[in-house]
Amino acid sequence: MSESMSPAASARVGFLQTHPRFGEVERNLESAARRVAEAPPFELLVLPELFSTGYLFRDRPEALEFGESVDGPTVRALREWAASRGGSIVAGFAERDGGRLFNSAALAEPDGTVRVYRKVHLFDRENFIFDPGDRPFEAWDVETAGGVVRVGVMVCFDWVYPESARSLALLGAEVILHPSNLVLPHCQEAMRTRCLENRVWAVTANRTAEDDRGDLRLEFTGRSQIVAPVGKVITRAPADGECVVVEEVDLAVARDKKITERNEIFGGRRPDAYSG
Ligand code: ACM
Repeated sequence: MSESMSPAASARVGFLQTHPRFGEVERNLESAARRVAEAPPFELLVLPELFSTGYLFRDRPEALEFGESVDGPTVRALREWAASRGGSIVAGFAERDGGRLFNSAALAEPDGTVRVYRKVHLFDRENFIFDPGDRPFEAWDVETAGGVVRVGVMVCFDWVYPESARSLALLGAEVILHPSNLVLPHCQEAMRTRCLENRVWAVTANRTAEDDRGDLRLEFTGRSQIVAPVGKVITRAPADGECVVVEEVDLAVARDKKITERNEIFGGRRPDAYSG
């Protein structure tokens, strides 16, 4: 953590729920830019996974064509929006690194800092389109006017593995930022448990509608949400329609890992009794 800043007492965190049009990167970026510009003030704003390209790539060669480096138009836009709004933005993009392609999320801070998470747990057809993330989960300190917020990023299907949120929480993340393109019906409820068992906040930004590629079609579930460390859904968007929601969250709740006087969540772990 930065020596100059103390932990923030609270932060304004939110999500932008979008309806990307497959392959229409310019249009998707313009639409998101308008929504970000209209959002209430925020310290952390989460956009969906692959929000600028759409999700349903036909195959790896097609996805590679849409792949961008961290200097590409999508991350450049995130940096511009973060600078102009004075808040950090995290969003998913297809990250091309030479011949490799990752389903990544970039966190852009107002000072131009960019950090990248590469999705560890690939979902279904992603397994023959993307390379699996090649770095461990990390937590990052984000400096805000009110102090430092420690965040962790995971992408969509990472929710199925409790190890994702647990790793981020063990690294000290107070808020989990979760760009998503959800298709299974259970994530929104499961994230309540992820928050409860780790005592963290989670912001899941999902997309709506469908990607229809003729012979391939997927429908996404919307219902983006913010969940509190006690497992309570603070706000949840409808299944359909674009929207942006920002809430002020109390970070002290996420730093207090005590369930009872004698039960501190992480101190009570028994790795010696676990397998795998
Ligand atoms: C998913 O991981 N996009 C379902």
